[in-house]
This record gives sequence, C-alpha cells and structure tokens, in this order.
Amino acid sequence: MRILPIASGKGGVGKSLLASNISLALGQAGQRVILIDLDLGASNIHQVLGLARANKGIGTFLADKNAELESVIMDTEYENLRVIPGDTEIPGLANIQTPQKNRLLRGIRKLDADFVVLDLGAGSSFNTIDFFLASHQGVVVTSPTLTSTLNAYLFLKNVIFRIITTSFTKKSPASLHLEALKSDGASLQRLYIPKLLEKLKKADPKGYENFEKKLETFKPLLALNLLDNPKDVEKGEKIQRSCKEYLGIDMEHLGVIYRDSMQDIALRSRLPIIRYKPMAVISQAIYRMADKLIQKSDIDDSGLDITSTEESFQTAELEAEVDFAGRLEEIQNLLRTGALSQGDLLETIKTQHYEIDGLRKENFLLKSKLLKASQEGFSI
Ligand SMILES: Nc1ncnc2c1ncn2[C@@H]1O[C@H](COP(=O)(O)OP(=O)(O)OP(=O)(O)O)[C@@H](O)[C@H]1O
Ligand SMILES: [Mg+2]
Repeated sequence: MRILPIASGKGGVGKSLLASNISLALGQAGQRVILIDLDLGASNIHQVLGLARANKGIGTFLADKNAELESVIMDTEYENLRVIPGDTEIPGLANIQTPQKNRLLRGIRKLDADFVVLDLGAGSSFNTIDFFLASHQGVVVTSPTLTSTLNAYLFLKNVIFRIITTSFTKKSPASLHLEALKSDGASLQRLYIPKLLEKLKKADPKGYENFEKKLETFKPLLALNLLDNPKDVEKGEKIQRSCKEYLGIDMEHLGVIYRDSMQDIALRSRLPIIRYKPMAVISQAIYRMADKLIQKSDIDDSGLDITSTEESFQTAELEAEVDFAGRLEEIQNLLRTGALSQGDLLETIKTQHYEIDGLRKENFLLKSKLLKASQEGFSI
C-alpha cells in the first residue's frame, strides 16, 4: 500500500482538485484507492467529487477511542474509489493532539488499499508535516506565482527541519540546540540549513548519520498547477534547484497542469474534471500523473528507480510544450463551435501581445548588457 499525501505551502493551488482527480484516475486504472480528506475545518472533497454530504468521517473516528478507521470509510459510485470524509466541525488538523494524530496515522497504515491519498490543508503546521512524512514521496503542489513557490519552498524547509529534529537523540547537545532554535520562530525562518547541518555533524556524528539515511530516501514530488504558458515551468525548476542547494532535497517532477476555465464549469456541474471532460488537456495531464505514480510504485518495489531528478524536470518542459499545443487546438475547436467568440479571442491576443512586447524589450536590454559585458571582457 502506498500513502500519497498532497500538500502545499499556499492555499488554493489545487490540492483538492489533484487529490480527488488523481484518486479517480488511479481507481480507473484498477488500483484500489482510499481518499482521505484531512483538510479538517475546511474539508471539501465531497463537493469536488460531487458526493452527498456524509454522516460519518474523521470526526467520528476521533471522537470514539475504540473506533476503527475502516468503520468511517464510505463507498462511492466511482470505480475502486472509497472516501473518508473530513470534518468541518473540527477546527483544523493543527488542533489534533499528538496521541490522536498517532492513532490516525496507525489507522491509515493499516488500511487495505493500493493507494491511500491524503488531501492535506495548506500550510506548515506540525501535524500536516507529519502526515506529509507518512510517505517518502509526498506531493507538493504549487502554482507559478512567487508567493506560491516561496511557500512551497518554506513548507519543504519546515519538513527538513522536522526530519533533522527526529534524527538526534533527545537531550543530546545537538537536540538541545535544535530545541532552542524551535522556540524562536524568527531565527527558524532565517535559518541556513547547510550551516546548521555542519554544526550538528560536528556535535553529534551518529545523529547526523541517522539524518543522512532518512534524507536519502526522501524524494518529494512537485506538481505545478495553474500554468498559463510553457515558460512557467521555469518556476518549478527554480524550486527544484533551491531545494537541492539549500535543503539538500532531491525533488522529482510529477507533472504540469494548465489553468483551464473548464474546471469551473465542471465544479458547478458537481463533476470531477476527468469525468466531465476526460479528453481535455487538463484531464489528460492528470491521467499522466496517475500513470507515473503507478509506474513508480512498481519501480519502488524492485528498488530500481534510476531516473535522475534533472531528467524528470526536462520532461516537465516537454510536457508543458505538448500541452500548450493541445490547448491551442482546444481553442480552435471552441472557435469552430462558437463557444468562444472572435471578440473574446481578440481580447486575449491583445493582452498576450502586450506581454510579448514587454518580454521583447527585456530581452533586448539583457542582450545589450551581455554584449557590453563581453566587449569589456575582450578589452581586458
Ligand atoms: N488547473 C486549474 N484550472 C482551473 N481552475 C483550477 C485549476 N486548479 C485548481 N483550480 C480551481 O482553483 C480553486 C482552488 O483549487 P483547490 O480547492 O483544489 O485548491 P486547494 O489547494 O485544495 O485549496 P485549499 O488550500 O483551500 O484547500 C478551485 O476553485 C479549483 O476549481
Ligand atoms: Mg483543498
């Protein structure tokens, strides 16, 4: 059984959309899936999947000490997909006490399924991080905006800090140093992880070895959502590089998804997008992710994962270009059927021209700077 936590630093970047549609796609591919809505206080998986409001869920399980997690699983009309609904009565996962969190984690690990997908709330709360770490390969979702990518990076920084703190024995000098850091939120934000690791290695080589072993198997997956053009992929590559350089994390690319207004219509029709329009580029992107995940679970079993993370990000560029071409085709179809008026299209093209103009100017400026720099270089 594979646990697939889906997290993000910033809210509203498409975790629930991905969690529910990937679960559906995995189910359609014959995998037995249980999707758990762990965005307590703001759970909405039943809406995204168009299910009736449930009368049991995580809240029922947490309220009854003797309940088994199996008892709150709900069947759905979808192939191979069962759901554990969240709870809007519980004020957020952050407020669950450690013993309850551990009971929930134990319950999840015992579930009988091929994939258990966890839709987590946004942010870096302690409990969210622990659910994310229930797997070596959780998914971090981000959009290409600066706040979203920055928050994805900060989320992973918090995750690394959590891995570090669990690697050193309690009351050891290294652990006491970490405790002091933890109590000072501001310095934790500014913390430069490579420097901290250097210090900890000196103070406690054994604990450091522990940490390295844990980090070796930790390969989170990055999903880039709400793309507008192929260039947006660079934002994903940037996170990947920063994570490698500053956090020592090897991220892998899971997939890219364009912003698609069809999702709004699907949501209003209370249908998940891959059910509403399975052939749309957005749906195909989700199927592609599900395929990768299935392949991965095979590879992990035989311990033969040889794709390098660099390679996986080159795939990202290719996917973004292919999907972009697909979206142009979709627009042509919309024009043909009259769903999109010539006026709408003209407006879009005008805005894009404006943006292209801006980019051209920037490009020209950079080129002339480069030329100047190289001429100065030659004259030396
Ligand atoms: N690729 C996309 N194209 C168009 N709309 C999208 C896309 N991805 C997500 N959305 C829309 O953006 C909104 C936020 O998505 P979603 O609820 O899945 O995000 P979330 O990360 O789960 O948010 P929260 O942090 O609040 O739980 C929804 O209205 C969803 O339909
Ligand atoms: Mg959500």
